[in-house]
Amino acid sequence: MTPQRLVGARPEPAFEITVDGRPVPVVPGQSIGAAMHAAGIRSWRTTRFEGRPRGLFCGIGVCFDCLLTVNGTPSLRACSTQARPGDEVTTS
Ligand code: FES
Repeated sequence: MTPQRLVGARPEPAFEITVDGRPVPVVPGQSIGAAMHAAGIRSWRTTRFEGRPRGLFCGIGVCFDCLLTVNGTPSLRACSTQARPGDEVTTS
């Protein structure tokens, strides 16, 4: 897109995904992790031995702290998986 076209650009309409059955609004282009963070969901996993909360940490796909399941596909990184309309996210 050229800079001149960007001047008149408007955001696409927002949509929803569900996280453990809860509706979560998404701005087009957001990652699932960004949408969850914006909705106040800050942790959704725990560490194996001490049960400490985990969610977004690095935010760039390196640490794997943000794993979740999207539409039945397990072990996706929330921080680097783009949300799509109707995505069903489960965290356990
Ligand atoms: S937050 Fe580190 S891989 Fe997603």
